[in-house]
Amino acid sequence: MRIAGNQGDNVALLKIHHHPDPVLKQVAEPVASFDGDLRKLAEDMLETMYAAPGVGLAAPQVGVSRRLIVLDCGPKEQRQPIVAVNPVILDGEGSCCEEEGCLSVPGYYARVERREKVRVSFQDLDGRERQMEAEGLWAICFQHEIDHLDGILFVDHLSPLKKSLFRKKYRKILEQMEEQL
Ligand code: NI
Repeated sequence: MRIAGNQGDNVALLKIHHHPDPVLKQVAEPVASFDGDLRKLAEDMLETMYAAPGVGLAAPQVGVSRRLIVLDCGPKEQRQPIVAVNPVILDGEGSCCEEEGCLSVPGYYARVERREKVRVSFQDLDGRERQMEAEGLWAICFQHEIDHLDGILFVDHLSPLKKSLFRKKYRKILEQMEEQL
């Protein structure tokens, strides 16, 4: 499916892969070439994220096992897209426990313990090194999306009891989705 992009070029909405798709469990490969293909993938991921709607998306979620994430945790009226290539969490402080959801785990939300603030380093689409201090929703989102690059879903952080409840509920959610198709 294609939609018109902001710059008048064609931006593709990408298919979001759902758990238990194996691509979501792979450790993603580092990005080595900062070329037009990478830029196109990042633009398509941003549009896919906004359309979902979501506040973050990692390349494995669209079936690409590369270390690339996009985020926008800013206010709805004002887009603040961040594209982070090969992102790494340098350090973190504090802890928080907010409810999270994931475009790859439709219909399920749960509280996950995370660092409250993180310092992140990554490369931009031109390969330039960047650093960012993130807190609040931005910090949670960076941790959630970087987890995706290591094959970790937010539900992997749940206690064994909550995990078994999740499995039961998620099986029903998937069945309902299949019925709707
Ligand atoms: Ni996610």
